[in-house]
Amino acid sequence: MSLQTAAPTDPSPATAAAPLAGARPAVVARLREAWLLGDVPVANRVLLAPLAGIGNWFVRLQARRYGAGLAVSEMVSSFGLHYGNPRTCNEMLRIHPDEHPVSVQLFGPDPEVMRSAAARVAEAGADLIDINMGCPVPKVVKTGAGAALIDDPDRAVAVARAAREGSGLPVTVKLRSGTRGGERTGVELARRLVADAGVAGIGFHPRPASAHHRGAPDYALAAALVASLPAPVLLTGGLRSAAAAHRAFEQTGAAAVLLARGTLGYPWLFAEVLGDDPRPSPGAIRAELDWVIDRAEEHLGPARAARYLRKFYPWYLARLGASHALQDAMVRSQTLTQARGLLGGLAVVAAA
Ligand SMILES: Cc1cc2nc3c(=O)[nH]c(=O)nc-3n(C[C@H](O)[C@H](O)[C@H](O)COP(=O)(O)O)c2cc1C
Repeated sequence: MSLQTAAPTDPSPATAAAPLAGARPAVVARLREAWLLGDVPVANRVLLAPLAGIGNWFVRLQARRYGAGLAVSEMVSSFGLHYGNPRTCNEMLRIHPDEHPVSVQLFGPDPEVMRSAAARVAEAGADLIDINMGCPVPKVVKTGAGAALIDDPDRAVAVARAAREGSGLPVTVKLRSGTRGGERTGVELARRLVADAGVAGIGFHPRPASAHHRGAPDYALAAALVASLPAPVLLTGGLRSAAAAHRAFEQTGAAAVLLARGTLGYPWLFAEVLGDDPRPSPGAIRAELDWVIDRAEEHLGPARAARYLRKFYPWYLARLGASHALQDAMVRSQTLTQARGLLGGLAVVAAA
């Protein structure tokens, strides 16, 4: 059964832009290089990181439209797939034909459940699977999944191997430096995952799980991992501007960068990290927000989309300089008609 779903969208590429001032040509040229992740061709080295509750098909498609070489899905429960939960199987595995290559991130602590979930992901048409071994959220860690696997390396290897065998796809693992500050257990696990589970790459977030997403990432540790790992390292953490991504990419020698929070409401960051200076006008930002609203409606229907989009509005509205009153009204809007009506007023401001 294929869960691929065609949807009417406009996957037009970002418009051509001037080169980004101050970007080092050698770094940009390297980031623009095509490469292979496992046996999957990836057009460049600027990727969308997994974002729970956010990285659905249209957010990934948006990333690809603005230049990302590959987008990774929000984390998907291996148990949900294994037991056939309808929302997990139909909504979270929905892949748009224009977003390939795409990686679906799975989480879970049980190798046999992971094997069966990975097979479903392959059936759905994903090109790669990523396994989450970095999530610090208690709800996930207490089940033995996410960052808990860093402290359970034998199980972690079995989970990754099962995903590879169950899907026949290249598997990457995204993990942290350790679960607590000062640890390097994530580095040790990365080596075992490559040597013993045959994973095709490691997404490395050089912050301990205990730090969640706060504090300075340890790029020196990432550089040490890159130097010693016989597989590509995909760097994540603190890459919220083109300058930050360029510096960290150069400092660590990583194979690619995974952009996360910097892209929320600003998919133009992909183009910037690739060396362009897109400088979106207020009208372009507004049009992108409209695109997101339309896609969410298509994906979830109007009632659920109205609630789902509440977290998206502030990302775009802050960039448009919208008043706090308008941002507040949007976040409290009950229907898409109401939200679109509120935005209608903003269009006048943006165009003025
Ligand atoms: C809202 C949010 C959701 C996230 N969801 C996931 C996830 O599902 N899987 C995962 O491996 N990492 C997840 N992360 C971590 C990001 O992929 C990324 O590694 C992290 O935010 C560091 O990058 P940044 O400092 O550039 O944001 C999430 C981060 C945020 C902020």
